Parts: sequence; structure tokens; C-alpha cells
Amino acid sequence: MRIGFIGGTGEEGMGLAYRFAKAGHACTIGSRSIEKAQTAVAELHEKDAALPLTAATNEDAAASADIVIVTTPYTAQAATLPPLAATLAGKIVVSTVVPMAFEGGKASLVAVPEGSAAQQEQILLPGAKIVAAFQNLSAKKLLKGGALEADVVVCADDADAKKQIMELAAAIEGVRGVDGGSLANAQMVEGITVLLVSINRNYKTQAGIRIAGIA
Ligand SMILES: NC(=O)c1ccc[n+]([C@@H]2O[C@H](COP(=O)([O-])OP(=O)(O)OC[C@H]3O[C@@H](n4cnc5c(N)ncnc54)[C@H](OP(=O)(O)O)[C@@H]3O)[C@@H](O)[C@H]2O)c1
Repeated sequence: MRIGFIGGTGEEGMGLAYRFAKAGHACTIGSRSIEKAQTAVAELHEKDAALPLTAATNEDAAASADIVIVTTPYTAQAATLPPLAATLAGKIVVSTVVPMAFEGGKASLVAVPEGSAAQQEQILLPGAKIVAAFQNLSAKKLLKGGALEADVVVCADDADAKKQIMELAAAIEGVRGVDGGSLANAQMVEGITVLLVSINRNYKTQAGIRIAGIA
């Protein structure tokens, strides 16, 4: 699978690219700046020079991939995604985005008129199959390597796209992809990340979530 990252030079994009490349998927780290993308790839190649990683502009990363993962901040997606709408039509686009604000050291969920960052992506990219996933995975843990003890709740309105991303999630060591229902449920999953930020501060860790009672 060829996976492209929009805004892939941050910790979340690099962490996911590292894990998916380790699993054998060709990953392209996209950026507004090709030099910044090249630096990110070089940094990951220091971990393992054989990883199938390339650098590109966001536009080229979107065009060359089968699956595109959005790892920009929430505040960037309204300006970043519409110019890519034609390129992304028909493709699976994964939202990892959490609409979160920090004030006085405290995190809070930002109200999104469309319901969630993922639902906003669907409006910005009407032809794409939007899947919401990975919002609760710590970028630091992804970059560190080793098994994660976490579930990834996957929400989408397209059943086949959801299944593909649940399988992709399971490519990360220690992670299960869990069917979270329709895209509208992404609002709750995004909110859990805000809760995790508070838990992380209290327990000085990078916590994840596990859903109990499913096989
Ligand atoms: N960090 C985590 O642990 C974590 C966990 C779960 C979910 N997430 C979500 O994953 C996303 C990425 O998180 P992150 O910590 O990696 O974010 P980040 O470092 O703040 O941003 C990621 C990349 O987005 C691009 N970007 C920043 N501002 C932009 C703008 N105004 N316009 C266009 N592109 C812009 C930048 O890439 P270029 O400058 O190279 O273009 C930047 O390197 C966020 O939505 C976050 O909520 C993060």
C-alpha cells in the first residue's frame, strides 16, 4: 500500500510513517516545504536506513498515494485540504486530527460546527472516503518503537474503507483496530484525546485506550 501524509513532518505523521514503513508500506512524508520533508525522512532513516520512506510536497504526497493520512493541526485543515479535493476524490483519507486548544496549561476540545474534525474533512473533501483513526495514539510512543498497548477506534461511513484502516492499524505492533461505527462517532474519539492529555499529566505517561469485552 502507498501511504501519503499531509503535514507529515510533525511527530504524529512521522510516528505513523515510521510504523507503517516498518510494516512494509511505502510511505511519503508530505510538507509545505520539500526540504522539511527530506529532513523528516532523513531523521527516520537514522533509525533504519532500509525503511521505504520518501519526501514530497503535500500535493505530490496526495497524488502518489492510495491512502492519504492528514496529520496537520486542526487549525490548518480548512486552508490545506480544499486545494487537494480533486486529487483526493475517490481515495481513502484518514483524519488523525484532534480539535484541541491549550490555555493555562489545560487542554480543551474545540467545538467544530460540522461535529468533529473528521466530519469537517468530509465537507472539505466531498469526493474522498474519510476515515477517522489514530487520534488516541501517542506520537512519542509511535516514534519510540516497541509494542504499543492500545486500540485504535476506526469510524467511517464507507465500510470497505473502514475495514482497510482497521487492518492498517493492526500493522502497528500491539495495536488492534476496533470498529467504531459511523464517521459521526469520531467526535467522541477526538474528545478522548483531550482526556488522555490530562491523564498523561497526572500519571506522567503517554496513555492509550483499550476497549474491554471484545474478542
Ligand atoms: N502529537 C500527538 O501525540 C498526537 C496524537 C494523536 C493525534 N494527533 C493529531 O495529529 C495531528 C498532528 O499532530 P502533530 O503533533 O504532529 O502536529 P504539529 O507538529 O503541530 O503539525 C504537523 C505538521 O502540520 C504542518 N502544519 C503546521 N501548521 C500548518 C499550517 N498552518 N498550514 C499547513 N500545514 C501546517 C507542519 O508541516 P510542514 O511545516 O512540514 O508543512 C507540521 O509539521 C494533529 O491534528 C493532532 O491533533 C497528535
